[in-house]
Amino acid sequence: MKRTINDFEPILPPGWESCLEAAISAAIHAPNHRRTEPWRFYLLGEESKGRVCALNAELVASNRGEEAGRDKFRRWMAVPGWLVVTCVRGRDFDDGGIGGGWDMGDPMGMAREDYAACCCAVQNLWLSLHSRGIGTKWTTGAVNFDDRFADAVGFRMKEEFTVGTIWFGTPVHTPSPPAKRMGLENVLTKVN
Ligand SMILES: Cc1cc2nc3c(=O)[nH]c(=O)nc-3n(C[C@H](O)[C@H](O)[C@H](O)COP(=O)(O)O)c2cc1C
Repeated sequence: MKRTINDFEPILPPGWESCLEAAISAAIHAPNHRRTEPWRFYLLGEESKGRVCALNAELVASNRGEEAGRDKFRRWMAVPGWLVVTCVRGRDFDDGGIGGGWDMGDPMGMAREDYAACCCAVQNLWLSLHSRGIGTKWTTGAVNFDDRFADAVGFRMKEEFTVGTIWFGTPVHTPSPPAKRMGLENVLTKVN
């Protein structure tokens, strides 16, 4: 069973790049109601990773002090694989009169549909990497939604928003499944 991985070996495994390409091919076959193909993927190299880690360290330091910022910087820089997944904002998308516009509050709107499709894409990616022995962690935090994050990664916040930063690499160990508060009896309703 796929689990969120927190500890990665420092070096990516041989062949990781072709595994990642296969995973992105799986990702872009996710269900996508209006065929908008809203997902974008940014594979970070050392420089952009450094910019993101430095920005995050700055945010952490301003909340919890310089030492906490430095510690976070060191821990984030140790993560070997970085992939940022974004969703294209479809504000100007011609919906053919279906309505909805770009409003997460509208259940029939493009915003929800596209974000849902991007989340499915991430899950496809995640499972594909897992099947090749590469572990992942989906992260979202304040840094992802800071304007300077988009600059550090190389996209425009006006045009795309972050779905998640996907860390990847060889797992040092695989955690056991988290305890669930609810079992089938709590979540499954059989309706006659
Ligand atoms: C949208 C999304 C954002 C997440 N962001 C974080 C995060 O910022 N930090 C974190 O530790 N885990 C994050 N996770 C991973 C969850 O914590 C993880 O899936 C959960 O603990 C269950 O563990 P499992 O994936 O091994 O089942 C995120 C998951 C999703 C779907």
